[in-house]
Amino acid sequence: MKRECPDGVDVYFDNVGGDVSAAVHRRLALRARIAICGQVAEYNQVPPQGGPRSVSFVISRRVRMEGFLVGDFAHLYGPALERLTRWLAEGRLRYREDVVDGLENAPRAFIGLLRGENRGKLLVKVADP
Ligand SMILES: NC(=O)c1ccc[n+]([C@@H]2O[C@H](COP(=O)([O-])OP(=O)(O)OC[C@H]3O[C@@H](n4cnc5c(N)ncnc54)[C@H](OP(=O)(O)O)[C@@H]3O)[C@@H](O)[C@H]2O)c1
Repeated sequence: MKRECPDGVDVYFDNVGGDVSAAVHRRLALRARIAICGQVAEYNQVPPQGGPRSVSFVISRRVRMEGFLVGDFAHLYGPALERLTRWLAEGRLRYREDVVDGLENAPRAFIGLLRGENRGKLLVKVADP
C-alpha cells in the first residue's frame, strides 16, 4: 500500500471488506471518500462478526463513508454499458473469467468459489437446448 499509494488513498470503492479494507483504512488520505459496495470477505465468517469494527480512522482523517447499491443507478446502465464496451475494445479494461463446462458441474464449482479456488468471474457454461 505504501509503495502503490505513497500519498495515501483518496477514494476507496470497497468491494471486499476484511483484511484488504483494513490495510486501505490504515493508508487513507485526509478527507478520503469510501463507497461501500460489498464485503465478500465477511459473508461466510463463522461465527459472524458481531457489530462494526472500529471506525476511529474516520475521525482523524475526516473520512466520509457511504453505502453503494447498484440499483440506485439503473438509469445509467445504458451509458455505462456503452462506456465499458468501448474501454474493453480499447484494451483499457481487462477481466478474467473462470468458465466451468456443464450445469452438472455447477455444485462443485460453487463449493470451489466459496473456497477461493476460482480466479476471476466464475461462470457455468450451459449447453444450448
Ligand atoms: N452493492 C451492490 O449493489 C452490489 C451488487 C452486486 C455485488 N455486490 C458486491 O460486489 C462484490 C463483488 O461481487 P461479484 O459479483 O463481482 O463477485 P465475484 O465476481 O465473485 O468477485 C469477487 C471478487 O472478490 C475477491 N474476493 C473473494 N473473497 C475475497 C476475500 N476473502 N478477500 C479478498 N478478496 C476476495 C475475488 O478475488 P479472486 O478473484 O482473487 O478470488 C474476486 O475478485 C461482492 O462483495 C458483492 O457482495 C454489491
